[in-house]
Amino acid sequence: MTPAGEALAAEIRRNGAIPFRRFMEVALYHPAHGYYRRGRDPFGKHGDYFTAEQIQPVFGILMAERIRQLYRQMGSPREFTVVELGAGRREMAEAFAEWKYVPVDLDWGAMPEKFAGVVFSNEFFDALPVDAVVYQSGAFHQQRVALAEGGFAWQTGEVVGATAERYLRRYYLPPEEGRWYEVNLEALAWLERMAAVLSKGYLLTVDYGFTRAESVRFPAGTLMGYRRHTAREDVLAEAGMRDITSHVNFSALEESGTACGLAKERFETLAQTLLTAGEADGFAAALGAGGAAEELRRRMQLKTLLFGMGETFRVLLQKKSEG
Ligand SMILES: C[S@@+](CC[C@H](N)C(=O)[O-])C[C@H]1O[C@@H](n2cnc3c(N)ncnc32)[C@H](O)[C@@H]1O
Repeated sequence: MTPAGEALAAEIRRNGAIPFRRFMEVALYHPAHGYYRRGRDPFGKHGDYFTAEQIQPVFGILMAERIRQLYRQMGSPREFTVVELGAGRREMAEAFAEWKYVPVDLDWGAMPEKFAGVVFSNEFFDALPVDAVVYQSGAFHQQRVALAEGGFAWQTGEVVGATAERYLRRYYLPPEEGRWYEVNLEALAWLERMAAVLSKGYLLTVDYGFTRAESVRFPAGTLMGYRRHTAREDVLAEAGMRDITSHVNFSALEESGTACGLAKERFETLAQTLLTAGEADGFAAALGAGGAAEELRRRMQLKTLLFGMGETFRVLLQKKSEG
């Protein structure tokens, strides 16, 4: 068993089967053995996956241009901060250097107390621990993780509490027997936190996910494990050695955002956002600079972003007004 697996097994022996949320928390964020904390770089060619952020400089140039447009919409204020949630390898540092840029991740980066500007994130919300739930015998049940021979197994637990029930009824289509769902309460807590610290400005959230109407496409839920660029269905295997993600429920982000003062401005594909950023100069800033070889490299990056990731990833833009 992996070291994170040993820690989980000990906890299960002590307390009995644990909610999946706890399993995900330990597998990803155990201080010594969690996937994101064991001192091995999970990103890039030698890691497990690429994110759009690693497609530099083109992703950075276009996102910075999109933020520049938002800055102008705010009347070009003197004070303007860009906070990045889950900044990972700080890939956006160079692109966002013209502003006060505050990258925040688990163990570093201090969130400003109050600021005007933009809260940017790329693949942050999909990495937050979620509850896994199954609808069975006419009720939503917590999915727990128990010990099984040599590893872990799912165990259907108690009926979920009122907060999770409300989430499931609001942000999914009416339930169907045997379907799996995820509840991401931590995402909603982050939205509330951001609504409180952002005096004026925008949340710009890039991630993959679905809306309430699209949730019908995922009868088995959206949990996935990644290792060496392969999607694996079995998220309980090799705890701490593979990434675990869940698709973002954008209806939940949008509607709970509205409730805490973050009004939806736009919800679109990443391709649409990149086109909005690049159309003014016909992508000249993103593709220019350097010789022919560099331009070719950047054209390939733009192609990957627009056609490889552009339709899968979505961008939610929410606005916080003053007062
Ligand atoms: C999938 S990675 C994305 C990294 C980067 N944004 C990118 O696109 O390459 C998710 C990041 O969110 C961070 N993260 C997870 N939970 C967090 C929390 N509670 N506070 C701050 N960062 C967190 C992880 O440590 C990880 O770096």
